[in-house]
Amino acid sequence: MCGIIGIAGRSLVTDRLIDGLKRLEYRGYDSSGIAVLTDGSLDRRRAEGKIRHLEATISKNALDGQIGIAHTRWATHGVPNTTNAHPHRAGRVAVVHNGIIENYLELREELSGKREFLSETDTEVVAHLVDVELAKGLSPRDAFAETLKRLKGAYAFGLIIDDNPNEIFCARAGSPLALGIGPDGKEHFLGSDAMAMAQLTSKLIYLEEGDWAILRPDGYEIFDETDVPVTREITVIKGGPAVAEKGKYPHFMLKEIYEQPDILTRTLTHYLDNQRTRPVRGTELAPALDFTKFDRVILIACGTAYYAGAVAKYWFEQVAGLAVDIDVASEFRYRRPVLNERSLFIAISQSGETADTLAALRYCKENGLTTAALVNVMTSTMAREADIAMPIHAGPEIGVASTKAFTAQLTALAALCLSAAQVRGTISDEELLRLTAELISVPRLISDALELDAPIAEMSKTLAPARSAFYLGRGAQVPVAFEGALKIKEIAYIHAEGYAAGELKHGPIALIEDGTPVIVLAPMDDLYEKTVSNLQEVASRGARVTLVTDAAGAKSGAAMADELIVVPSSDPFIAPLMTTVAMQLLAYHTAVALGTDVDQPRNLAKSVTVE
Ligand code: AGP
Repeated sequence: MCGIIGIAGRSLVTDRLIDGLKRLEYRGYDSSGIAVLTDGSLDRRRAEGKIRHLEATISKNALDGQIGIAHTRWATHGVPNTTNAHPHRAGRVAVVHNGIIENYLELREELSGKREFLSETDTEVVAHLVDVELAKGLSPRDAFAETLKRLKGAYAFGLIIDDNPNEIFCARAGSPLALGIGPDGKEHFLGSDAMAMAQLTSKLIYLEEGDWAILRPDGYEIFDETDVPVTREITVIKGGPAVAEKGKYPHFMLKEIYEQPDILTRTLTHYLDNQRTRPVRGTELAPALDFTKFDRVILIACGTAYYAGAVAKYWFEQVAGLAVDIDVASEFRYRRPVLNERSLFIAISQSGETADTLAALRYCKENGLTTAALVNVMTSTMAREADIAMPIHAGPEIGVASTKAFTAQLTALAALCLSAAQVRGTISDEELLRLTAELISVPRLISDALELDAPIAEMSKTLAPARSAFYLGRGAQVPVAFEGALKIKEIAYIHAEGYAAGELKHGPIALIEDGTPVIVLAPMDDLYEKTVSNLQEVASRGARVTLVTDAAGAKSGAAMADELIVVPSSDPFIAPLMTTVAMQLLAYHTAVALGTDVDQPRNLAKSVTVE
């Protein structure tokens, strides 16, 4: 995640912007920058490395003004440098950005020959597009609005324009962005989150998906994605930083569900090349990660992390042609598995401290395997002891029930699978580019999936009284069914079983009676028809069926289900991420309906460091 802060002020802004960047330091940064309007003329400073390097640059060559934007860039591979640092400038425009612009290559292509690009980033194209619209004679507001219509992806922006002295333009699509209202409404602010503005104000407005806004010292205007003026609720943050961290969310779990588009953008940029069109080679991530040296991958984890591995098994086998062994860590080493040096062991663990997973990693190291740890905490024991430490970049996950870490694990594993396929030549280059583009669309599609929040909250009221439930799927949806069942067990305390849909008739269908809730995960894919026939088997025995599918699946499946959750349509390769969000929201709202302790459910711990 990168960090954004902006001030449309009455007094000078440079010191306060730098202070805001320091509050964003927890997001990590490799370079930073600031742009201000000084009596309407645009000025900019950028620096590589720590914020203090930017401060040193500014002390040598001061800039200040009453309107300004600043940014911490979070480069994830390749050398971060000043050229790639934000704010990016083109002509009259300076912009700071967080997220991914999926179609930036075609936009650059359109401008090639007409505009000189100085950086490799997708961000720069936004500055050029706005500048081109200004050159056509459009007003700053129309130039910005027109540019937004051209962009596809998950992003948040702050933008200022030379010779336009009193305005900051900003937009939010998939990456969080909040406005701040200064004392007596005499100043207005912009920030990636409440923490960035904690010293400036406690009165925040969280922009909604597709919103864009114009900030001025004495006011602001907010527009929805159809450019219609809208008003958004003002949230007053009470209490200390911990409360600020939750922002407008009642629970960390819900905040972390909503963080996913932003988080997965960051995860992706670590595993994809600068152009974001193909995965980086494994050996670029770590010299030992040479997928040509392995013919088997062993994915070992516990709980939710295990289900991430179980989904990845389908990807590695079907796309990269690699045999995959998966097991829960508590069983793995005791079954004395057959191991050889052509097996790559990958421990998957949010905390990087889970005792059983750590023990499995040590067991494989002792047996001479190359070991990798896919973790959220790069200072954890697993990260330190594995031959290869791979981050998921989910940021601190406070809710005991894992959500953003799970989808970040899936995203990283999907990218690693493509990286393996690339060097093993198991798919065409065209297919590699296509699947990478599907992966790049995940943040935006998950942002769309979050629109299901309200309807799923409504549905959860029906599920809350249930004593038990079944979750069914086929193919890569089976592990998602198991994860969905785990979520509702661990936070709503409802007994639930994930099951392979084709397996139910071999006994468990005896448990189906009138009203038994059965959640069927069946986006349109090669297995859809078979899964729907399993749906009919349980429906005909009285089950209350919730079908989780996409638009294509809903066409024929709607009539067979009592309830329908329609997730964004996507390629089957990334469909597990879409149904996962629906499962997270269903578990969350069921738990809220039951009044359980969502963030710290009974009997659980965030990291199980005992066997
Ligand atoms: C997930 O919701 C659970 N809290 C739990 O299953 C967790 O995934 C498991 O304990 C593994 O933890 P780790 O990812 O930190 O190794």
